[in-house]
Amino acid sequence: KGPERVFSGVQPTGNLHLGNYLGAIRKFVTLQQSHDCLFCVVDMHAITVWQDPAKLRAQTLEIAAAYLAAGIDPDKSIIFNQSQVSAHAELAWIFNCVARMGWLNRMTQFKDKAGKDKERASSGLFVYPNLMSADILAYKATHVPVGDDQKQHLELARDTAAKFNNDFNCPDFFPMPEPLIKGAGARVMSLKDGSAKMSKSDPADNSRINMTDDADMIAKKIKKAKTDPEPLPGDIEGLSGRPEADNLVGIYAALAGVEKEQVIADFGGQGFGVFKPALADLAVEKLSPITARMREIQGDETTLEKVLKDGAQRADAIAAPIMREVKEIVGF
Ligand code: ADP
Ligand code: NA
Repeated sequence: KGPERVFSGVQPTGNLHLGNYLGAIRKFVTLQQSHDCLFCVVDMHAITVWQDPAKLRAQTLEIAAAYLAAGIDPDKSIIFNQSQVSAHAELAWIFNCVARMGWLNRMTQFKDKAGKDKERASSGLFVYPNLMSADILAYKATHVPVGDDQKQHLELARDTAAKFNNDFNCPDFFPMPEPLIKGAGARVMSLKDGSAKMSKSDPADNSRINMTDDADMIAKKIKKAKTDPEPLPGDIEGLSGRPEADNLVGIYAALAGVEKEQVIADFGGQGFGVFKPALADLAVEKLSPITARMREIQGDETTLEKVLKDGAQRADAIAAPIMREVKEIVGF
């Protein structure tokens, strides 16, 4: 492992879904072979919109269980819960005073998440990107695996790091964190239609494939996925202008670990009556062992709590000296 350090997180805001698995958790498992990694359950991000406390706690444990079930090894990587390491909140406050209103005004996620009545959104939701910058920079992380949805936030983290280094005349104090391009599965779209990403944050979307769904439920949801009536095209170009077909082919490719071209080579010319059952079988094959392991791990809360507590201590051991320096630099 080199000097590179990876930070990433998942919000405990609802059931984990196929997009989280393909776009994030599965990539984390691979990354831990080559990098020092911190994988966080970002409960402080979660409360930017209302969370029932008991559910928040349960979902935090669910994500930790999913990390372990998918193959993140707590001996290799640090698995922890954001609220248990004080550096996140402390550095976020400093970044609230570094990042500019104009920068935050340009963030599209606030516009999407705040809904129509912006006056009623929490102020935390507005400054959420500063907390994300703090998550990364409290560990001087150099690499962040980001989905398309988070790219803009990573740019803000870079701008904030640069402004801090410049304002306080400490060149190179914070590194400029780089995105790790996620490739296949980087953006899994909703099965309702291909226009929005599959997300935990859309409770009304019952087409979402959850990591805790059983085989029948997965098959049912894939069968119901919206598609056009045409068979799959004979070449990859034929997917353009067909977002639903493109999404299903992309999901198949990501699950199988092949390129979309390969999926088209195998299924081109076939109707969805053939392709959907094949996709359902593949999804069940890949997800059900993880689901089973997740349930097992969730049944042992003591061990799970211990993994999180141990992870928080190791995370704090990295962040605390950095925060001492930051406070010194700021004049605290
Ligand atoms: P959500 O948007 O479902 O609430 P989070 O914001 O907690 O998910 O994101 C957790 C991780 O999962 C991030 O790395 C994010 O990029 C990834 N992710 C979320 N939704 C998708 C999706 N539909 N396709 C691919 N990756 C996704
Ligand atoms: Na997201």
